[in-house]
Amino acid sequence: MSTIIIDGKALAQNIRHDVANRVSALKEKGITACLAVIILGDDPASQSYVRGKEKACGDVGILSRDYKLSSTTSEEELVLLIEELNRDESVHGILVQLPLPKHINESTIIETIDPNKDVDGFHPNSLGKLMLGQDTFIPCTPHGVIKMLESVDISTEGKNIVIIGRSHIVGSPLSQLLIQKTPTGNATVTICHSRTKNLSDFTKRADIIIAAVGVPQMLTSDMVSDGVVIIDVGVNRVEDSTKAKGYRLVGDVDFEGMLNKASVLTPVPGGVGPMTITMLLFNTIKSAEITFDRR
Ligand SMILES: NC(=O)c1ccc[n+]([C@@H]2O[C@H](COP(=O)([O-])OP(=O)(O)OC[C@H]3O[C@@H](n4cnc5c(N)ncnc54)[C@H](OP(=O)(O)O)[C@@H]3O)[C@@H](O)[C@H]2O)c1
Repeated sequence: MSTIIIDGKALAQNIRHDVANRVSALKEKGITACLAVIILGDDPASQSYVRGKEKACGDVGILSRDYKLSSTTSEEELVLLIEELNRDESVHGILVQLPLPKHINESTIIETIDPNKDVDGFHPNSLGKLMLGQDTFIPCTPHGVIKMLESVDISTEGKNIVIIGRSHIVGSPLSQLLIQKTPTGNATVTICHSRTKNLSDFTKRADIIIAAVGVPQMLTSDMVSDGVVIIDVGVNRVEDSTKAKGYRLVGDVDFEGMLNKASVLTPVPGGVGPMTITMLLFNTIKSAEITFDRR
């Protein structure tokens, strides 16, 4: 069986093209979509994500306002900054790069963000609406996964879908999207995690597997059935002395081993990653358009 590889970069590019058109149309009406990005400290992975987001904003014409703060910033200072951005009518989206330093309570920070500017979709208000099937900001990675399945006309209706990973940013919201009574839902979803016994018993019965674990290449070909559709969310650094940086990125799936066994597969890098940033742009223009409509 030949495996279809979903090109996340190409798909992301198509969606970014649409976003760029919407950004221009809004600019003509006098509103420049603006995303405020807050990062604390100098963790290289977080800084690299933030640089990627800034560049993506620039490419589609979204204004990116960056707040690079010290890792010793207090929770109170961060709350005050977010409250100021909540009041600032020229800001349409607020993103706080996670993880935060240990002395800051992540829930407090996420709950401080105005739900109307919650373009990450992590606020309890957004997640509650998602669960109820109401219009909201859908968290970017789960939204990207849905778009990837759509792009290759994979129907989720009646399918057995196994999600490995139950985080609040990927696995849990994705499970909600996939069980909704919508054309991209109607699936029977099983969520597996670190306490799941005999993971293979679940993955072997799956029509579609979404791996969001953070363990390099843990899903191997002996754990899946022929023709399975696999979306690999994982991004893991593994040592590689042949690379200038000393490491390379791999997913949670043994990509090579799945070739000719899976019917559809996503690469890492170049799969879900570009889609995640793209859906952030999508949420930011959506927020700016809502602001314009409310005027
Ligand atoms: N491509 C992107 O844009 C993107 C976006 C977000 C995340 N990611 C990547 O996706 C991965 C997951 O991210 P996350 O934030 O969801 O991570 P997370 O919060 O650490 O959650 C990982 C989940 O995997 C489960 N797990 C860990 N080891 C397992 C095992 N051996 N077998 C089965 N389940 C296991 C954990 O179970 P417990 O709940 O029991 O601990 C947890 O539910 C990471 O590699 C991350 O870098 C990529």
